[in-house]
Amino acid sequence: MRILIAFSSLSGNTRDLARMVRARCAERGHAVSWIETGVQTLADGGPDPRHDLYLLGSWSDNGGRTPVEMKRFIAELVEAVGKPQRIAVFGTGETQWGEEHYCGAVRRIAAFFGTRLPRLEIEQMPHGGRDAERVRRWTDHLLDTIESHEHADPARRIA
Ligand SMILES: Cc1cc2nc3c(=O)[nH]c(=O)nc-3n(C[C@H](O)[C@H](O)[C@H](O)COP(=O)(O)O)c2cc1C
Repeated sequence: MRILIAFSSLSGNTRDLARMVRARCAERGHAVSWIETGVQTLADGGPDPRHDLYLLGSWSDNGGRTPVEMKRFIAELVEAVGKPQRIAVFGTGETQWGEEHYCGAVRRIAAFFGTRLPRLEIEQMPHGGRDAERVRRWTDHLLDTIESHEHADPARRIA
């Protein structure tokens, strides 16, 4: 599959998480386009913006809001490919900003796209074996879900 990972990170936590997700996708043999929003645009992900799976990663700004650079990227993505069905959202946040705002951007982005795929929310930054295992399981779950749908839908396989 062609997978697009686009993330927004101010101090590196979400970038670390995105790198772990990318490593797992690559380990499973998928081609990953990599975009750091704010620094790069959709065009930096390659000549064709269409991908089989989109993974968006974000930190959360004040009041659990989506950072402006991620909002801009989302506008660009929707303009190019519409609202993809196969999109999953991950990110980092801190509960000290209030439980109700914790990883608010992750929830807001997922709601905007109306995705049913699970979210991955990590407190502050991924560390230790437990987080590594969570990241691996989340990524594997997404890849397994999509691969099994492809096999169940011969039309997609032929297309
Ligand atoms: C101005 C500001 C506001 C923040 N507001 C929230 C928030 O509402 N909810 C939350 O979960 N984290 C909030 N955070 C914490 C960051 O989302 C968290 O530290 C995140 O891991 C940073 O990711 P990054 O290192 O990829 O930039 C805020 C951080 C800053 C600097």
